[in-house]
Amino acid sequence: MQIILLLFFTLSLSTYHSNGKLILEGSASFDTSGFTILTNTTKHSYGQLFSTEPVYYKNSSFHFHFHFGIVPEHNHSGSHGMTFVLSPTIGLPGVSSDQYLGLFNETNNGKASNHVIAIELDIHKDDEFGDIDDNHVGVNINGLRSVISAPAGYYDDKDGRFHNLSLVSGKVMRLSVVYSQPDKQLDVTLSPAEFTDPPLKPLFTLNRDLSPYLLKKMYYGFTASTGSIGALHYMLTTMTGPEVDYPMFDVSVVPTLPPYPKKVSDKTRTILAVCLTLAVIVAFVTSGFGFVFYLRHKKVKEVIEEWEIQYGPHKFAYKELFNATKGFKEKQILGSGGFGQVYRGTLSGSDGEIAVKRTSHGSSQGKREFLAEISTIGRLRHPNLVRLLGYCRHKDDLFLVYDFMPNGSLDKYLNRSDTDENQERLSWEQRFKIIRDIASALLYLHQEWVQVIIHRDIKPANVLLDHEMNARLGDFGLAKLYDPGFDPQTTKVAGTFGYIAPEFLRTGRATTSTDVYAFGLVMLEVVCGRRLIERREAKNEDVLVDWILELWEEWKIFDASEESIRQEQNRGEIELVLKLGVLCSHQAESIRPDMSAVMRILNGVLQLPENLLDVVRAERLRERPKISMEVLLDVNSTSTLSFTHSFASHGR
Ligand SMILES: *[C@@H]1O[C@H](CO)[C@@H](O)[C@H](O)[C@H]1NC(C)=O
Ligand SMILES: *[C@@H]1O[C@H](CO)[C@@H](O)[C@H](O)[C@H]1NC(C)=O
Ligand SMILES: *[C@@H]1O[C@H](CO)[C@@H](O)[C@H](O)[C@H]1NC(C)=O
Ligand SMILES: *[C@@H]1O[C@H](CO)[C@@H](O)[C@H](O)[C@H]1NC(C)=O
Ligand SMILES: *[C@@H]1O[C@H](CO)[C@@H](O)[C@H](O)[C@H]1NC(C)=O
Repeated sequence: MQIILLLFFTLSLSTYHSNGKLILEGSASFDTSGFTILTNTTKHSYGQLFSTEPVYYKNSSFHFHFHFGIVPEHNHSGSHGMTFVLSPTIGLPGVSSDQYLGLFNETNNGKASNHVIAIELDIHKDDEFGDIDDNHVGVNINGLRSVISAPAGYYDDKDGRFHNLSLVSGKVMRLSVVYSQPDKQLDVTLSPAEFTDPPLKPLFTLNRDLSPYLLKKMYYGFTASTGSIGALHYMLTTMTGPEVDYPMFDVSVVPTLPPYPKKVSDKTRTILAVCLTLAVIVAFVTSGFGFVFYLRHKKVKEVIEEWEIQYGPHKFAYKELFNATKGFKEKQILGSGGFGQVYRGTLSGSDGEIAVKRTSHGSSQGKREFLAEISTIGRLRHPNLVRLLGYCRHKDDLFLVYDFMPNGSLDKYLNRSDTDENQERLSWEQRFKIIRDIASALLYLHQEWVQVIIHRDIKPANVLLDHEMNARLGDFGLAKLYDPGFDPQTTKVAGTFGYIAPEFLRTGRATTSTDVYAFGLVMLEVVCGRRLIERREAKNEDVLVDWILELWEEWKIFDASEESIRQEQNRGEIELVLKLGVLCSHQAESIRPDMSAVMRILNGVLQLPENLLDVVRAERLRERPKISMEVLLDVNSTSTLSFTHSFASHGR
């Protein structure tokens, strides 16, 4: 177990903190607190900060969240502003200061050949570029004339009211830039840094396909400029998005930025000199004490493990969680598993509910899963993923804090007996939406995130439903980063029986295709409203996939769907999902589609082939699962697995 832990640890560190370095240009510098200041007190200057690590955003979604702050020279007045930029080059050479924001110059401004997309935080009204005011956020494509902009502020989640924010307040703020390629939609959200969650309603939305403007390989960075009035533009962190060796800061403690340096007159200079001399003497005398303090400080620091600094989700105090869950009362338990229990709770001072996952006391498996979860989901943001709000370590216990999902998990809505009349049944529209939600989350994990992430444990119990019945994928306890240089054989076979692809049992190698396999089965379960394997009166109906295939061969596949949703107007969609489910959960890895194909099929953009049944049948005869007993024993040793009596019939 130790070895696995270590291996995983090295892997995640090296992949997250890949070779990305930061390049400073112009007046940009790192200050003593580890922040980056893009501009100094020099007038008419610009600064740039760029990552040398390329990002590949052509035709894909992306999202960035970062903290910044602008300290103006005069009370509420400074110039010119800053930008977050995606550029085809590391740095933007030959650019100008002032109204050009360190982004363009007079000659290249507005040229389509720039391939530059920037979000500007503009604190100066430039009429030549049609600026709306001197305190706005805008999207600039290839030029300084914004394609969309809005006065700085945010919409309150509670009442939807707009609140102004002053960019030059000297306060730390958060900007979130989320682009969805399928929706061709860019959401930009500004909020005070004190908000743990960004507001739900974005400041503005740009409906435009950005892929024509992006090149295959892009770099991201920040720029800022000053004009005749100065301003210090601070960059505090990239919270998510591609990682670089970047100073992270703890979001729970929002730093106060120092005031703009005052001009030093000659008189004050002499006073300063005297003070400095005195200070040096005092420092000399106290340096002995200082050394002791330093040592003690260092010791405390070492107790904080490295990953805690690297992976910056919010750290909760144990007391907060203890109070939120009423002292981890049994009544608050939502569920339990191999890892420990999940409690329901309410944080004091908020009415938002949370789910707290507590790992079993001293269990090393629990710790491994905790590390895996923290390092992966801590930085993932997608509307169809359960959001990790933070974590806490207390003695041997590890806690993960998630958004509470009031409608529970998907498995509770399936496998209903007919006598359960008073229990709510999902309509076909709800089921189809749930399937597309899961597909969208998986597509994000497999293809849209910086690294390929394999979920490894897709099943209805891991699909949670929020208050609007949107499906969100949860429990990344088994998710690991996929890296070509990493030999998955060294990790244990894990997953949930029934949802494990046959080649995974043979080789122990998890791929995106093994996720697709499990997702295919989930699709079938959702349509049929029954378990994968269950005792039926007619023996040929025991194994869901076999039974569906049998019906398909008799041109009666529609009859496999749950009776309550079997209506003529749904026939097309139901048959599509059933066929797609059979294809995805096929034993032959080679014929399973990838998630982007699945998504396109679900959206009706891509058609299933005419001869699908023949292909499915032919491949099925060739590829029988070859399951060896040793592998099964190994599999049996992980706790999420359970075997049922009908195992033999599965491999028939
Ligand atoms: C600001 O940065 C520029 C470029 O590095 C440098 O030449 C200048 O001296 C700096 N000004 C101050 C006041 O530090
Ligand atoms: C992006 O999509 C377009 C149109 O769908 C396609 O022609 C192009 O090859 C794609 N580019 C990449 C890098 O995937
Ligand atoms: C700074 O300006 C704001 C309005 O622009 C004003 O309310 C505030 O009193 C000013 N503060 C100082 C210290 O001058
Ligand atoms: C403007 O920038 C481009 C490159 O971005 C550079 O080639 C050009 O020389 C610059 N023009 C001026 C006038 O500085
Ligand atoms: C926000 O600021 C604008 C311009 O400064 C002002 O017209 C508007 O009334 C303000 N809105 C609120 C809600 O304070």
